[in-house]
Amino acid sequence: MTLQTLPRIALIEDDEIVRQTTCQWLELAGFEVEAFSHGKAGLDAVLQHPFDAVVSDVKLPDVDGLSILNELELHQVATPVLFITGHGDVDMAVGALQNGAFDFIEKPFEPERLSQRVSEAVDSYRQQASTQERQAYLARISGLEKVLIGQSRVMQQLREQVAKLARIDTNVIIYGETGCGKELVATSLHNESARQAQRFVPINCGAIPENLFESELFGHESGAFTGANQRRIGKFEYAHKGTLFFDEVESMPASMQVKVLRALQEHTIERVGGNQSIAIDTRVIAAAKADLNGHETFRQDLYYRLNVAQIHLPPLREREDDALILFEHFTRQTNPETRLASEADRHAILSYSWPGNIRELRNVAVRFALDDGISVMEILSNRPSSTMEAVQSDVPLLIQLHNFERKVLHECLVAHQGRIHEVMLALDLPRRTLNQKMKKFGLNRADYT
Ligand SMILES: Nc1ncnc2c1ncn2[C@@H]1O[C@H](COP(=O)(O)OP(=O)(O)OP(=O)(O)O)[C@@H](O)[C@H]1O
Ligand SMILES: [Mg+2]
Repeated sequence: MTLQTLPRIALIEDDEIVRQTTCQWLELAGFEVEAFSHGKAGLDAVLQHPFDAVVSDVKLPDVDGLSILNELELHQVATPVLFITGHGDVDMAVGALQNGAFDFIEKPFEPERLSQRVSEAVDSYRQQASTQERQAYLARISGLEKVLIGQSRVMQQLREQVAKLARIDTNVIIYGETGCGKELVATSLHNESARQAQRFVPINCGAIPENLFESELFGHESGAFTGANQRRIGKFEYAHKGTLFFDEVESMPASMQVKVLRALQEHTIERVGGNQSIAIDTRVIAAAKADLNGHETFRQDLYYRLNVAQIHLPPLREREDDALILFEHFTRQTNPETRLASEADRHAILSYSWPGNIRELRNVAVRFALDDGISVMEILSNRPSSTMEAVQSDVPLLIQLHNFERKVLHECLVAHQGRIHEVMLALDLPRRTLNQKMKKFGLNRADYT
């Protein structure tokens, strides 16, 4: 990820000795300094090139400090200006503060004090500038970019690929780490396609017991097996003319892989316990975390069927500064009044590796937005590691089950943005049961839409 470059400071001071020593101090403190002996030269440089702060004498041979401030304002350059003042200049310095100067420092001063104030000026400027840039980005995006948010090169390429593949009615495999947007890409492919008016039907191949899989996918006739009291339509039929999304496709039981392959080859299915062959027209999108090519337990003939096109989702840590944009997006979504992330928060966001990708980032952003006093670092250091999250050896089983069930419902509501019908389908829950459970866990649909 890109961390920011050394702060660039324009130093304007006519006294050669003061200029040289101040320049050295600032460079030792980690700033990149460009020094000018005249106000006009310094001003022109600041108007033409990006600087993070200006450190300037108030009394200069050609122009004075105040007019530098005015010129910057006139040209809408928000670079903060710190004045160095001699004894007699305090009145002028106070005037400068009223006109928007960041601060003034009276000569003689300690080098540490100067570098401290310059750092503060740089931080606040960078914070403001980058926040404004991100807010402007979030406000101006539309279409697919508003769904698959991100300014990085890889995300731009991804959106182009999604837009292109959406128009071609082929099967697609989406690869990517956990939480990096596979399902979101799958729904985008559907929503941008000619099938958009029909259903998008997700099926999580890792979550269905093998003995129920066939009837889930193909449906059953009444009396097909014990407990099959009435006819049930399977996901294939339900997705007729729409899109069927095989999530975690690598977990599909071997026995089912054969049957799915046959359905895809023949464009027909039979319900369990039925003889009638039913024509189906579905586009299949699959998501996988592991490479299916040469996969030990995944049939290669099915792989070739699905693998007409591939999308590789980059993990969040490879998306340049997108983590900051997404953080901004999720915090504002949770609470429009959320405070700005500090320099330290932003640093933590950019240096963390985000193994849980965008889902993990969203959770952190939501906590940040709901808790006024907490920093990103604190949130990150307090959270249990994702592998340990599910199982705790010293908590009663019932409580763990309760928490897990709540988490499943919550994640599913988030994934489907509160669309109850989709949640019912995804979790295979009747509406009444889902409503009861949501009530029990205090989950409100409105919080997810
Ligand atoms: N580029 C993005 N812009 C905005 N939100 C995103 C983006 N990518 C992912 N998300 C959000 O992040 C969350 C996780 O995404 P999604 O469920 O699609 O990931 P996944 O790859 O399917 O995860 P898993 O492997 O755990 O199933 C969702 O809430 C999704 O809306
Ligand atoms: Mg998913």
